[in-house]
Amino acid sequence: MTSANTTSQTGSPIASDEHSLTVGADGVAALHDRYLVEKLAQFSRERIPERVVHAKGGGAFGEFVVTEDVSAYTRAAVFQPGATTETLQRFSSVAGEQGSPDTWRDVRGFSVKFYTTEGNYDIVGNNTPVFFIRDGIKFPDFIHSQKRLPGSGLRNPDMQWDFWTLSPESAHQVTYLMGDRGLPRSWREMPGFGSHTYQWINAAGEKFWVKYHFRSNQGNVELTGDEAEVIAGADADHYRRDLHTAIAAGDFPSWDVYVQVMAYDEAKAYRFNPFDLTKVWPHADYPLIKVGTHTLNRNPENFFAEIEQAAFSPANTVPGIDISPDKMLMARVFSYPDAQRYRVGTNYADIPVNAPHAAPVHTYSQDGAARHTFKPSSAPVYAPNSFGGPVASAAAAGEGSWENDGALVRSAATLHSQDSDFGQAGTLYRDVFDDAAKARFVATLTGQGSSITIPEIRERFFGYWTSVDADLGAKLRAAVA
Ligand code: HEM
Repeated sequence: MTSANTTSQTGSPIASDEHSLTVGADGVAALHDRYLVEKLAQFSRERIPERVVHAKGGGAFGEFVVTEDVSAYTRAAVFQPGATTETLQRFSSVAGEQGSPDTWRDVRGFSVKFYTTEGNYDIVGNNTPVFFIRDGIKFPDFIHSQKRLPGSGLRNPDMQWDFWTLSPESAHQVTYLMGDRGLPRSWREMPGFGSHTYQWINAAGEKFWVKYHFRSNQGNVELTGDEAEVIAGADADHYRRDLHTAIAAGDFPSWDVYVQVMAYDEAKAYRFNPFDLTKVWPHADYPLIKVGTHTLNRNPENFFAEIEQAAFSPANTVPGIDISPDKMLMARVFSYPDAQRYRVGTNYADIPVNAPHAAPVHTYSQDGAARHTFKPSSAPVYAPNSFGGPVASAAAAGEGSWENDGALVRSAATLHSQDSDFGQAGTLYRDVFDDAAKARFVATLTGQGSSITIPEIRERFFGYWTSVDADLGAKLRAAVA
């Protein structure tokens, strides 16, 4: 087999891949060895910053097929009957860094990019239907409390529990996290949720509130704490390996996709705030409506180019879909593109994995670092113009809306009758966990409580779980050493 000659990055042949240019065989290296300099300089720039959260992950490409008819609720092309759309999915852990073991207890990220004919649509969710907080202004503090102490660089149960117990809205999500859901056996064997409430708009302009559910066709399988610990030591990349191996072997994981749909006018009078990210909508009130099936069938060819540089964002919406009056979601719409301009670069959206695959781009955005796509020199560079440049289509996009009034304030959302922080956490513990799951949950929390060293925080820990369930609180008070 003949090989091509190695070249520099600018295409000229180079003399050696193994020997630097030196003064005599044992002499000093020459600074004008352009190839040595290029090789080392490029090497020291290989890393980009890891994601500030969800740093460790993996992913694959796939296909979303609509099998049902939900056109009564949305006119988005991606959800019309029979539509097939290329997708990219990335799974992740929230708190750990790039090299962290996959099976540390954590919430798992569940991001899907749909390359639709109307532009890219992203659902950036988790394997839990709720979240720890309900106002984006708390997100940096929450994450700081879960990451590392500034001095020792160690993770610290005191600050984790200090934040959680001072933020009672976290109780529902912490119940998921400390329960079996915190330790999936693989990414393939866990569900996904959009978590937030989103808005759908149909062809007649009628609006609905929706929540997304992805149900794994591999089932939901979890690890015990002991199993997870052994795997963390033996194979830190357990999830990444599992997904890659399954897809390479033709064993394609899939999820059936459902929505819960709430009529637009029901939101105001519902018994709790339906835009509160710490709450689920009971299925008895809003049953799951099937949309289609999402299948992962192609591993990335280049992990860095296609997974590490992938940029998912709740800001990426398409006609027929929009956000809702959820403060967290509004904060996220700003935060993701901002993070990606810093992490990947100004023109991150131009990279093949982030650019639309099934829709054209007609934008007046130009220049910036590493720009490599551009329009013909005759194309106008401003709008409005008289030279046939792209024209905005108010009717085609951005129609999501809701009524808002009131003065500018900093406050919790208006109370609905059942807006308790602890109610749904208690229901999850009492009515959803079976006896064995309850026992594992109590054992996990006993370990957690015992790792808290500050008496005041430990006391709050008991109060927090007593508010979730009085019997649970008493059990923990008796068990924590
Ligand atoms: C206001 C609250 C939040 C803020 C400010 C925030 C911010 C961020 C940022 C900056 C990133 C890194 C993005 C990148 O560099 O590409 C990220 C990643 C991520 N976030 Fe959030 N986040 C918030 C809440 C949430 C919630 C509620 C969920 C799930 C329901 C979530 C799920 C994810 C996922 C899955 C990723 C990884 C995306 C990927 O796979 O590349 N985040 N978040």
